[in-house]
Amino acid sequence: MDASPESSTAAAAAGSRPRVVLGVGGGIAAYKACELLRRFTESGHDVTVVPTAAALKFVGAATWEALSGKPVSTDMFDDVAGVRHVHLGRQADLVVVAPATADLIAKAAHGRADDLLTGTLLTARCPVVFAPAMHTEMWEHPATRANVATLRGRDSIVVEPAYGRLTGVDTGPGRLPEAAEIFAVAVDVLGRGAAATAPDLAGRRVVVSAGGTREYLDPVRFLGNRSSGKQGYALARTAVARGADVTLVAANVELPDPAGAMLVNVTSAMQMRDAVTAAGQDADAVVMAAAPADFRPTSPAGHKIKKRVGQQPPRLELLENPDILAELAIARGAGRSTPLLVGFAAETGDDTGDVLDHARAKLSRKGCDLLVVNDVGGGAVFGADDNSAVILGADGSEQVVDRGSKTALAHVIWDSVTARLPATPR
Ligand code: CTP
Repeated sequence: MDASPESSTAAAAAGSRPRVVLGVGGGIAAYKACELLRRFTESGHDVTVVPTAAALKFVGAATWEALSGKPVSTDMFDDVAGVRHVHLGRQADLVVVAPATADLIAKAAHGRADDLLTGTLLTARCPVVFAPAMHTEMWEHPATRANVATLRGRDSIVVEPAYGRLTGVDTGPGRLPEAAEIFAVAVDVLGRGAAATAPDLAGRRVVVSAGGTREYLDPVRFLGNRSSGKQGYALARTAVARGADVTLVAANVELPDPAGAMLVNVTSAMQMRDAVTAAGQDADAVVMAAAPADFRPTSPAGHKIKKRVGQQPPRLELLENPDILAELAIARGAGRSTPLLVGFAAETGDDTGDVLDHARAKLSRKGCDLLVVNDVGGGAVFGADDNSAVILGADGSEQVVDRGSKTALAHVIWDSVTARLPATPR
């Protein structure tokens, strides 16, 4: 069969299940690949697990066979007549290596092929995703840096490891990203085929905001909103996959950290303004997918506000928060920065106009370049995994994006952004 990256699209068109080779390296994080495998199989992927011999010291063949429903081998000599490494590599729509140890990354970078997994990596003609996991020193060693650069230079996708507690008492970059995160990257790559490996945002710095701010009334109560952060996280993840240097300013989001993005956690709109303004100074693009609150309590109580029998409820006095997007546009107008600005508008129609009437007015009021408009009548979008939108441009363009995953919408937004960025990065 066609082993080109487009084969996943062909497989989908033919109604067959996308074929994934899950390579498992010999690291303690091998157990997390079980959860990744479960996500693939439960969502209809045909998965062949290829562990290294070292991986089997952490998780045995019986576990992989039971979870994948297929026999597992590590060695090229297990089925010589079947030439398994060639067969697996040629037929795969995607190879995901998780965890990718320093040794496995080194072997892949140098084209070694001394076991079934490394042999399969050499025969694969589909996109390959490496999810590294190792101690910080190994990840930061110049040899590993060079090997990762080699793999990326060959259009393999090497996701950044997560930051956190490692096997021992040490903490730092080197943790395997959450299975949900690796799965999201893999599904995105499968869906995009060859385009997934074109790093068209390489050399660009982008800032994405996500989530909903909280404006505290007292130490336990706040004014908040229903933003889940999923669209912002999809934007950050896809920008990383397309090669950008990403700062993600997140307010109160309960999602796994997107691998490879620099995460800045904030709580309130004022904190979000500081973080976005600082990161936006030298950015090529700022995408405000967050829902910062428009108002905050004038004087939050330092103690829990008590209910007093027979007394009137307290009156809430509010102050207007700065409009972060509009401020960025003003700073740009004053020549203090130059990022391309993207806003989001969750609108409902009313008796003064429909959704797009309100959105067009907002686009010009905010002074941004693109406005991604969601119709939220009836509570659509919030917390959902898919989304539809209209992307309005200050240049008068209007692009309808049909209902699809938030990841798919994120890619369309980045397509619009890249089309408007100057040819050379800042
Ligand atoms: N936004 C912002 N700062 C705020 C409020 C909103 O930067 N204080 C950004 C949002 O991140 C979004 C865009 O502005 O990208 C539009 O948000 P929205 O809440 O629709 O704008 P508002 O000006 O608050 O309009 P409305 O009165 O319709 O709520």
